[in-house]
Amino acid sequence: MSTVDLPPAPVPARPSLKSLHEAVHDCRACDLWQGATQAVMGEGARHAHLMLVGEQPGDREDIEGHPFVGPAGRVLDQGLEQAGIARDDVYITNAVKHFRYKARGRRRIHQKPDRWQVAACFPWLEAEIKVVQPAALVCLGATAAQQLLGSHIRIGKDRGRPVDSDLAELVTLTTHPSAILRADDEDRDDAMAQFVDDLKRVAGWLSAR
Ligand code: URA
Repeated sequence: MSTVDLPPAPVPARPSLKSLHEAVHDCRACDLWQGATQAVMGEGARHAHLMLVGEQPGDREDIEGHPFVGPAGRVLDQGLEQAGIARDDVYITNAVKHFRYKARGRRRIHQKPDRWQVAACFPWLEAEIKVVQPAALVCLGATAAQQLLGSHIRIGKDRGRPVDSDLAELVTLTTHPSAILRADDEDRDDAMAQFVDDLKRVAGWLSAR
């Protein structure tokens, strides 16, 4: 499937966070709405200095309707706390607003969105960035980073450093919190420490402005 026969994302002409939250529920720009409970728009302060962009809502997020409230959200919360960043000061969103999964019995197993689904959803993220105008934008993982910064971006090679972009004054990337959850037991502490280091660098940059 592709976007060819699908309507574009119905992003309001002059969006506010409220109008985006309302309009996203009518989005049929890709097929993911069919299996999802609801669209999950980003959340946070209207003029947050920091925006974090993840991949897509997971099982809990799909049910509750809020970004990063499941297991990956708990890792993110720990990372933010250790980096001295208050979650309330951050705008948190995703590259894709509907949960993509494969049903296995009663379980819903996360599936990475296809590139065309990420591209079809991009007008929502673009509008969020325009409304919030964050000073710093951090991509969490490859899906967000490649959509926003280009398909050449690699987490291993590019994480933690500023990337040339017009999206915000500081644009950078780090690992996705789910990758920390998936890490082997012996690697998890290191993965978390690196994640916190990346976030601390951003916190340092924000407080020096
Ligand atoms: N993973 C994401 O990328 N986003 C969420 O909201 C939850 C898990």
